[in-house]
Amino acid sequence: MEVLWTAVALAVICYNAGEAHAYQNYTVGGASGWFFDAQKNASVTDYTKWASSQTFGLGDYLIFNTNGNHSVIQTYNMTTYKNCNFDDAEDSDTFVWTAVDPLKPNTRVRVSVPLTIKGANYFFSSAMDGIECVNGLKFEVKVGAGQGLPSSLMHPPPPPYLEPSPAPADDSAANIPRDATAPPGIDNNNSGSEITNSAVLSAFLLQFFFSLALLLPNLY
Ligand SMILES: *[C@@H]1O[C@H](CO)[C@@H](O)[C@H](O)[C@H]1NC(C)=O
Ligand SMILES: *[C@@H]1O[C@H](CO)[C@@H](O)[C@H](O)[C@H]1NC(C)=O
Ligand SMILES: *[C@@H]1O[C@H](CO)[C@@H](O)[C@H](O)[C@H]1NC(C)=O
Ligand SMILES: *[C@@H]1O[C@H](CO)[C@@H](O)[C@H](O)[C@H]1NC(C)=O
Ligand SMILES: *[C@@H]1O[C@H](CO)[C@@H](O)[C@H](O)[C@H]1NC(C)=O
Repeated sequence: MEVLWTAVALAVICYNAGEAHAYQNYTVGGASGWFFDAQKNASVTDYTKWASSQTFGLGDYLIFNTNGNHSVIQTYNMTTYKNCNFDDAEDSDTFVWTAVDPLKPNTRVRVSVPLTIKGANYFFSSAMDGIECVNGLKFEVKVGAGQGLPSSLMHPPPPPYLEPSPAPADDSAANIPRDATAPPGIDNNNSGSEITNSAVLSAFLLQFFFSLALLLPNLY
């Protein structure tokens, strides 16, 4: 019996070790959702504070629960964010996930935004000519490498295997602004994610069969 519990405990530990690195879905603002109180002329919660209490990685999702009165704009351009206005923004660095719909202010909207680019990601609502953003309906997240992008978020699909190029890899590419033609996610690397997952799985399976081997003599 003791062996059985040891096996179960080890299996649970292995399982949790894997879970700790799983991709996360973060509900923006928690139960408050993504809203603005027009009476108070303020966002319903402190989104900057909310964001600073979390750790974000590639492949995680931000879930915005809102309605037709608010928009969700994502940008990688700090100027666009600071201006609370994306009229002059480039299509390549700014995305409208949901726009204000004046005809359906009461319609509930749920938007899932995958984090596909490392570094600073900015989010704001452009509603009320930017006043919502100016008065708090905005936040910034620093996206870390996490366990890399899952293949489901690499679009278009990765190109076929090519012979390694003799030219040395240029690491500085990760720090300069994104190529204007690259869709989100394409300039992020997924190396590591497969390794992490299979390593965790192998460790789990190894532990499982090892525990089983210990267990069998007890049962028969
Ligand atoms: C996270 O959100 C995405 C997009 O809505 C969904 O496909 C995925 O199943 C969610 N994952 C979890 C763990 O809830
Ligand atoms: C709300 O705040 C904005 C910016 O701080 C200000 O320009 C505007 O007059 C305020 N509106 C109301 C109704 O108080
Ligand atoms: C950021 O956006 C502003 C306009 O909102 C634009 O003038 C500027 O060139 C952009 N910066 C970059 C690095 O794309
Ligand atoms: C939507 O915004 C308008 C003013 O812009 C306000 O009168 C109305 O109550 C809001 N509706 C909802 C459901 O937030
Ligand atoms: C992604 O990884 C490949 C090798 O797998 C490398 O050549 C490339 O420079 C990396 N790109 C970035 C942006 O790190």
